[in-house]
Amino acid sequence: MLLNVDAINVHYGSAQVLHDVSINVKERELTCIVGRNGAGKTTLLKTISGFLKPTRGTVTFEDRTISGMRPDKVALLGVKYVFQDKRVFGDLTVRDNMELAAYPIKANLDEAIERLFSISGKMKKLIDSKAKGLSGGERQILLIGRALAGSPKLLLIDEPTEGLAAIVINDIARILMEMKGRLSMVVVEQNLAIVSRMADRVYIMKEGNVLREITEEAEIRDQAYIESLL
Ligand SMILES: Nc1ncnc2c1ncn2[C@@H]1O[C@H](COP(=O)(O)OP(=O)(O)OP(=O)(O)O)[C@@H](O)[C@H]1O
Ligand SMILES: [Mg+2]
Repeated sequence: MLLNVDAINVHYGSAQVLHDVSINVKERELTCIVGRNGAGKTTLLKTISGFLKPTRGTVTFEDRTISGMRPDKVALLGVKYVFQDKRVFGDLTVRDNMELAAYPIKANLDEAIERLFSISGKMKKLIDSKAKGLSGGERQILLIGRALAGSPKLLLIDEPTEGLAAIVINDIARILMEMKGRLSMVVVEQNLAIVSRMADRVYIMKEGNVLREITEEAEIRDQAYIESLL
């Protein structure tokens, strides 16, 4: 098991938002987390990546306890989180945005930029443009490219297709499918057509709980079935 989240509780102040949440992520699998707004999906990813601390339970990555570690330490171990808010450094170029991702983890910038180009060739002509001019889809591609700097083992991606046009959603889905098998991913995604198409494992979250784990391929491919569980 690459990542094990074992019975975590998470609070914001006195409000408990995750209750006894457990998930497993296997090497090279693409795991999807689905659930309605406010179900606790982002809270779960932020806890795995070290931005929040569980009040009970543990997060284990490659047999090492990472719950309680600072986010920069977790990132150095190879676990990267792509935030839901899609924020980039707008006044900086795409190249400078990549450099700011590569520098703190001592990743090779040229390699990181090559990897960005390999996930989307259209970033080549945008490399010296300011990031604030990017479309929503291009911005998401830049954020994924930033997270890939330094060859992480596990990517946590929070709603990569949120707010994007249908054609761009297909683009992002294709990129995730191409990355699949080369590293492990946990993707929070409300677009169930995409979940059904790409997931190896699905967790359904509701009101801060994991309602169900789905591993049967026939059940994952059945979008209506997943929808019925939400
Ligand atoms: N900083 C915060 N302080 C207090 N409560 C918060 C905070 N962030 C989130 N919450 C609450 O925690 C619960 C889970 O929120 P979370 O953002 O994890 O849900 P989500 O499943 O990611 O939702 P969405 O699909 O809208 O992104 C919600 O009830 C939310 O209002
Ligand atoms: Mg969220």
